[in-house]
Amino acid sequence: MRTQVAIIGAGPAGLLLGQLLHRYGIDNIILERKDRDYVLARIRAGVLEQGTVGLLEEAGVAARLHHEGLIHHGIELAFGGARHRIDMTKATGKTVTVYGQTEVTRDLMDARDKAGLATVYEAGDVSLHGFDSDRPRVRYVKDGVSHEIACDVIAGCDGFHGVSRQSVKDAITTFERIYPFGWLGLLSETPPVSPELIYNNHERGFALCSMRSNTRSRYYLQCPLDEHVDNWPDEKFWDELKRRLDPQAADHLVTGPSIEKSIAPLRSFVAEPMRFGRLFLAGDAAHIVPPTGAKGLNLAASDVHYLSQALREFYAEKSSAGIDDYSRRALGRVWKAERFSWWMTSMMHRFPDTDAFSSRIQIAELNYLVESEAAQMSLSENYVGLPY
Ligand code: APR
Ligand code: PHB
Repeated sequence: MRTQVAIIGAGPAGLLLGQLLHRYGIDNIILERKDRDYVLARIRAGVLEQGTVGLLEEAGVAARLHHEGLIHHGIELAFGGARHRIDMTKATGKTVTVYGQTEVTRDLMDARDKAGLATVYEAGDVSLHGFDSDRPRVRYVKDGVSHEIACDVIAGCDGFHGVSRQSVKDAITTFERIYPFGWLGLLSETPPVSPELIYNNHERGFALCSMRSNTRSRYYLQCPLDEHVDNWPDEKFWDELKRRLDPQAADHLVTGPSIEKSIAPLRSFVAEPMRFGRLFLAGDAAHIVPPTGAKGLNLAASDVHYLSQALREFYAEKSSAGIDDYSRRALGRVWKAERFSWWMTSMMHRFPDTDAFSSRIQIAELNYLVESEAAQMSLSENYVGLPY
């Protein structure tokens, strides 16, 4: 088998890259370890930057997003028992779109099927070879049979636990911060408590009110790292959430049975560089952000933007300038999103060592934010997404 670009991983990064390359006439194959339903069952983030929406438009997969996505112009910050709205559109002229990552993935998979592009699901033992030459190869096992794909380029879009970064582990430098807490998330078929997201700083711990649609809500509670979902029957989750919300939100909260409940640890992580000869890392394979700034999926999309442009130049103009500069350009934006996500996380959560002084500093920072247009501008331009 031969293709131009072998893509490892059918998450949002791999699928979006595949679709954009197809639009540019660049042939690609995706190898995915899991099956399609498994990939679609993962509940993840739900806030798209305007730039991410633009890329999905360019990939030709934005029709349902425009129909069902919710356009948001602001967020709310709650602390000290009151809520304060940050008008991000007033500050930046931009909006974000609430549309689940699961839906983005489904739209991309459907478009890929329609275009007749090759995706190998349940590809086992994927291994990467020869990417230090201009004739890389990827091997995998499917239904007990070994296969090899010859290609020009390998795109490692296989997430944090993938094989791509593992294949270059001696050549990378990693930067990491592990936070001493996780997020317990609950999805329910209930109307959201408020039309916009509410980020709550509370002495019992952070809470987030988010949504997937006007009838489906997503809530999160900061929890200890060793917490287990089995210790959190729905009733207990709703009680704890109410205690962390401002009185008005607590009054309006509509509760109901959970559809999904899970715990995710919070981590900041960057691997440098993102390019090794003919192997390019993109998305969670290269970096992780804590979810507080809603940047994970959006960063995967911006990597894919830089990489797809670079590969377009490589094929159409026979120029390697774009691929040579990929790591530098992608990492420049990655680190700004890392900073923003770390800052939002630090400002909103209760840390084990949060003493009286640090909680006063958090409240002062939040008060400054809701009083200063300059501070709101800074938060807003990062939240809606810095330019590519
Ligand atoms: N071989 C083939 N596929 C693999 C391998 C492997 N060895 N290892 C992992 N994969 C697949 C995973 O099963 C997954 O479907 O790669 C895919 C990676 O997808 P994601 O983890 O969703 O990563 P990415 O596409 O970069 O998307 C980033 O996802 O985790 C969120 O917060 C993150 O929203 C962000 C987005
Ligand atoms: C979500 O809806 O899952 C979500 C929204 C905003 C965040 C994190 C998660 O910052």
